[in-house]
This record gives sequence, C-alpha cells and structure tokens, in this order.
Amino acid sequence: MFLWGTATASYQIEGAVGEDGRGPSIWDTFSHEPGRTRDGHTGDVACDHYHRWPEDVALMAEAGLNAYRFSIAWPRVQPTGRGEPGKKGLDFYDRLVDALCEKGIVPAPTLFHWDLPQALEDEGGWLNRDISGYFADYAAIVAERLSDRVKMWITLNEPFVHMVFGYGLGVHAPGRALFLDALPVAHHQLLGHGLAVQALRAAGAEQVLITNNCTPVWPASDSAEDLSAADAYDTLHNLLFNDPVLLGTYPDFSAYGIAKLDFIRTGDLETIAQPLDGLGINYYNPTRIAGPGSGGLPFEDAGITGYPTTAFGWPVVPDGLRELLVSLKARYGTALPPVYITENGCSYEGVDDQERIAYLDGHIAAIRQAQREGVDLRGYFVWSLLDNFEWAEGYHQRFGLVHVDFETQKRTPKASYHWLKGLIETLKD
Ligand code: FCB
Repeated sequence: MFLWGTATASYQIEGAVGEDGRGPSIWDTFSHEPGRTRDGHTGDVACDHYHRWPEDVALMAEAGLNAYRFSIAWPRVQPTGRGEPGKKGLDFYDRLVDALCEKGIVPAPTLFHWDLPQALEDEGGWLNRDISGYFADYAAIVAERLSDRVKMWITLNEPFVHMVFGYGLGVHAPGRALFLDALPVAHHQLLGHGLAVQALRAAGAEQVLITNNCTPVWPASDSAEDLSAADAYDTLHNLLFNDPVLLGTYPDFSAYGIAKLDFIRTGDLETIAQPLDGLGINYYNPTRIAGPGSGGLPFEDAGITGYPTTAFGWPVVPDGLRELLVSLKARYGTALPPVYITENGCSYEGVDDQERIAYLDGHIAAIRQAQREGVDLRGYFVWSLLDNFEWAEGYHQRFGLVHVDFETQKRTPKASYHWLKGLIETLKD
C-alpha cells in the first residue's frame, strides 16, 4: 500500500507546553529568548493540537489520507530526558495512535524532531556522546508502549538541519554558533539513531527509518572551483548523513581541512549502519553552490534564480526531487532501502492556494517519474497538515493544507486539501 500522508512535529503543533508533566525543551527556552524568533513567537499554544487532536485526525480521515507522520515530544515522555517516564505524556500518544488506527491511518511517529529536553542540553546536548544512549532508552520506553499498534518508526528528523541551524549557525535551538565544531553533533545523532534502531527492534518495531533532509547540489558553473565546492557541500549536506547509515562509512572531509573525524570510536559505524526498512527523504529545493567560499568554508551558496519561489523565498523545482531520488539510487544501489518522501511542501498565504496545488502536483509528477526510472518509492507525506509554528519564522510561514486562525484555532481546509482529497479518491478506483 502506497502511503499518502501529512507530516507534523510536536513542538510545531501541540502547544500545552506546561501540561501533564511535560518538561521544558530547548525550543521553549530558545523561543522565549528575545530576538530568537520572528516577532518573538513561541510554540506555547501553537495549533493547540494537544487538545484538538480529535478534530485534526478527523480532518485527515476526511481527506482519505492513509498515513500520518507526527513526532513524539521527548520531554513529554521523560521530562528531563532520562529516568522514569511521565505517564500522562505517553497516554496522549497512546490515544492519538488508537484514533489513527481506528480510522485506518498508519501512524508513523518520529522520535526526535528537535525538541530536546532542556535538561539534556544542560549536559551539552548532542555535543555530549552520552545523549545517544539516553535517546535509545527513550526509544525503548516509547516502543514498549506503542509497538503493538505502531509498525513504522522514524528515529531522527533531519540531523543535518538540526546540526547546522541549531549548533553550527545558532538560528535554531539550542542557538549555538560553533560552525565546523558542530560536527560531533552529526555523529552523536547518528549514533543515537543506530542505538535507537536496536532498541526499537528489541521492543518489537517492524519497520524503522531515518529521515534525512537531502538536496541536489548544482555547481554554479563548470569551473574546477565550483565543481569542488559543490562536492564539498554535497559531503556536508547529503553524504555525511546518508553514507554512515547506508554504507557504514563517513565521507572524506579533507575539503574542510579535516583529515580525521576524531570523535568516532571503534564500533560506532557498525552501530550506525543498522539495516533499515526505509529511508525517509525530506525535499524542498536544490542548492546551487560556488567556490571557494569564505569564513573557513570551502563553498558558498550561489542562490537559484529563474524559478518561481514560495512565500519563504524557496525556489520551486519539482524535477529536483526526481533528480535527487535517481541520484540516491545511483550512489547507493542495492544498499538503498525503499524510499518514503517524509516531507515535501511549501509556504504560501491564503486559503485558495492554487500555488500549493501546482507545487504538489509538480512534485507528485516528479516522484512518479522517479518510480518509472526505477526508484522504489513507498510513500509521500505533505508538509504539513496544518499551518504551524515554523521555527525561527514563528507563525509567518504557512505550510498547511488546512488554514489555522491562531486567534481562534479555527481550522479551514484550503483548496489544496480538497485537491489532494480528490487525487486520493481517483487513486482508489
Ligand atoms: C523541515 C522541517 C519541518 C518544517 C519544514 C518546513 O526542515 O523538518 O519541521 O519546518 O522544514
């Protein structure tokens, strides 16, 4: 069964940050610091999904969607990231999973979509190797509770974006600007992924995936400088997260002046390269890269022109998704498990969102073309079900199929919601 779903994340939709024993996360801390998010927006209330989830599940069922990718808030399960689970937090996800199953919607939870318990940040966050082990303990707790009904699990969401935005540039929580010194964050997340896969399987999980954010990298020209800059960027954005998981190796970092990744210990790569049942890919746009870069980096972003852009300013390049999928197959061959597009979507204003329809239509055509070119694709999840808290952009970027009035919490399905519903209906015949 091909999965047609939507994707969300706990901090972006749940709200209820102080309820039922939830501990603070790094996003609570960060969003409450002056100047961190646009207009000082926070996820304190967000879409109030913690209370309104029955309505949100009904919206998915009404659209005919057969899968839902959501994330579990680690600080709801373990308020300080370690030790005994809080009962009520797990109860929330238990009820949500029951409601999804009742409607025939496959639950596909992600265990970490960036809301690290603040207490673990106080111990160094993902710079601290021990966090990997705590992550696996948390994975075990959740899977023991839910794996009788949840068959499909995603360990991490976009470890690249979390490392670069959260620890490299400091524009996301936890707000550290360490540049290349953030690299251990990649390794500790990947190690946490591998340990979590083992814990999930031990608790009866059937299907385990990781979700990586991937981008086709376009050199700005054919010059030797631009070509090697593009390779360097590809290493950081794509290979650093796909190679260890799928091949059990790290890519060469010599373009960064790094001869050896000295935070890797014996046996780590074996742990990281656990067999997977799927690779989750989040795709938004390609990246155009020039060389040689400044500030110690071997590349610079040359920007993409000549394509329409979303309200976020992101270029709309549907064929980039086909290109990406075909390149993954070319690089990994039989080591590439079935692929799920775990996020794809766009920010636009308005309820009559014809641009979103065009965007989704183009990207769905691209995955069909990739299928014809031999890529084993098993699902497509639109980011997102609801307009929500878009991290540093606050409530300014609207990615939902369903409009949310953040004053009243009223949900209004957009034209794209009705369009997707129509598309899914035609597929049933
Ligand atoms: C992805 C994130 C998701 C959302 C979209 C727009 O990088 O995983 O939470 O913010 O971008």
